[in-house]
Amino acid sequence: MSTSVKILGISGSLRNASTNTGLLRAAAAELPPDTELEIVTLHGIPPYNQDEELTPVDAVRSFKSKIRAADAILFAVPEYNYSVAGVLKNAIDWASRPPTDNVWQGKPVAMVGASVGMMGTGRAQLHLRQSFVTLNMHPLSQPEVQVAFHSKKFDAQGNLTDPDAREHLRALLVAFAAWTRLLRGEPSAPK
Ligand SMILES: Cc1cc2nc3c(=O)[nH]c(=O)nc-3n(C[C@H](O)[C@H](O)[C@H](O)COP(=O)(O)O)c2cc1C
Repeated sequence: MSTSVKILGISGSLRNASTNTGLLRAAAAELPPDTELEIVTLHGIPPYNQDEELTPVDAVRSFKSKIRAADAILFAVPEYNYSVAGVLKNAIDWASRPPTDNVWQGKPVAMVGASVGMMGTGRAQLHLRQSFVTLNMHPLSQPEVQVAFHSKKFDAQGNLTDPDAREHLRALLVAFAAWTRLLRGEPSAPK
């Protein structure tokens, strides 16, 4: 029997009908056994100010607590101007400070993303991957989930309707749970 894996899914979009938040809802419906997913959005997280990093507002404290309690982090990464949406980068910066309380430290991490264009957030995901080096997170390399031309793949409420994307999501979740257990030092499950 494998141990449970608690994933925190963080959406980088504040939009009501966000396709990226929709990807996390779809992920919650496609979880492998012994895996759970809590979804958080970044509403209420203020712009980062280093003067306040030792006395952050409750929204930041609560966000950091959720990260601390999670075994693994799944980012849904919107692409803005070929990079990570500012709202997401801002929240990542808050939770990395002060340096003695970088709550990302040592966490397994994976990314998914949906965008209107043909790259499906691939450029933003690559930029975010660079930050995992200094955050000391452990990124899953493959498979990747980059949902391109999202207007054909989600409904008006941001719910995923595309079966191929759902299948990719399922494969990522299986690999991510295995990656998290591997980093914990559990022997791999028999094939
Ligand atoms: C400021 C801004 C910049 C954007 N830049 C890109 C981009 O570089 N590449 C892309 O594919 N889509 C871009 N888009 C479109 C987003 O892919 C689209 O708004 C998407 O729905 C955002 O994710 P969400 O549905 O989770 O809110 C941009 C949108 C905004 C508002």
